[in-house]
Amino acid sequence: MKIIADFSLKNYNTFGIAAKARFFVEVTTIDELITALKLQDYPHKFILGGGSNMLLVQDINALVIHLNIKGIAVLEEDENNVVLKVMAGENWHQLVLWTLDHGYGGLENLSLIPGNTGTAPIQNIGAYGVELKDRFVSCEALHRENLQIATFSLEDCQFGYRESFFKNEGRNSYVIVSVTFKLSKKNHEINKSYGAIEQELQKNDIKNPSIKDISKAVIAIRNSKLPDPKKIGNSGSFFKNPIISKSEFEKFTEEHPAAPFYKVSEAAYKIPAGWLIEQCGFKGKRFGDAGVHVKQALVLVNYGNASGAEIMALASNIIDNVRNKFGIAIVPEVNLIK
Ligand code: EPU
Repeated sequence: MKIIADFSLKNYNTFGIAAKARFFVEVTTIDELITALKLQDYPHKFILGGGSNMLLVQDINALVIHLNIKGIAVLEEDENNVVLKVMAGENWHQLVLWTLDHGYGGLENLSLIPGNTGTAPIQNIGAYGVELKDRFVSCEALHRENLQIATFSLEDCQFGYRESFFKNEGRNSYVIVSVTFKLSKKNHEINKSYGAIEQELQKNDIKNPSIKDISKAVIAIRNSKLPDPKKIGNSGSFFKNPIISKSEFEKFTEEHPAAPFYKVSEAAYKIPAGWLIEQCGFKGKRFGDAGVHVKQALVLVNYGNASGAEIMALASNIIDNVRNKFGIAIVPEVNLIK
């Protein structure tokens, strides 16, 4: 374990922000993680996973512990299902491809999401009709103070739309070290309910898609509208889609009959923030190296050398404009590291 001082995090966050860690160390086992957390000389510690859902607004004045613990193990299997335990440092998309190569179904709709497996439960990653919680069995997390590993069930995690225990009460107390999933080996539950998937399959004349076909369709859709973080820095959706009450929705839809929406329940409606932001004229706009993606207004991008503060200033400007035009509050989905 080598501790490096004044380490640039540019290659460790998908936004490509060149903030620095006062100290940086990479851990590849749970024992190393415990050793790093025990280091008395570094009172402030910050856990960094895949760096895919955060904005570094400034330098991190702490020991940054980069989790790079790998491993995939089959815990149980029968003729229908397999239970997989995946260590936190496994890259999410590589895991999805690995499951598909083994014929395991369940994660295909979550193809090409940046980041690592250990971070995925924190915001209950979701896309194209499936959320992590739908395949989740449990996760193991190390308590940062007592250094004990606890197992969290589906219920314990309190998953919601881009929400979990680990993003709320459990924030900063735990480090997720492994995640356990239950996947199918046959009779896969093919989920093509999200409109764009059906269109993509039709385009390729696929009537009975396999799990690999769904994955390929999702990859094609994502590539067509989401920027590749290796080419243009970004953190996926920067904002959550706002959820408004029925009465707010009735007023909103009367004023904006063309607006897209999803009904969440009888009492709640979700409005795509991308649409609200586009209506405010921000889509494709660029302010220095900070910008709003050309093809999806929900995604803020770093064209090269934007600072976290510049991206944040753009985000605040967008929030104000959406509030003034629509009376709707949008909030960041990414973790703001200040
Ligand atoms: N829209 C616009 N303008 C835009 C973007 C979107 O008008 O610039 C409209 C679209 O036309 C469509 C609606 O908004 O009618 C929804 O757009 P889209 O299908 O692209 O999905 P989204 O609601 O913008 C969410 C997730 C994405 C996920 C997709 C697909 C959130 C915050 N984002 O985006 O997740 O990939 O659905 O399931 O819920 C992420 O979290 O990083 C992420 C990319």
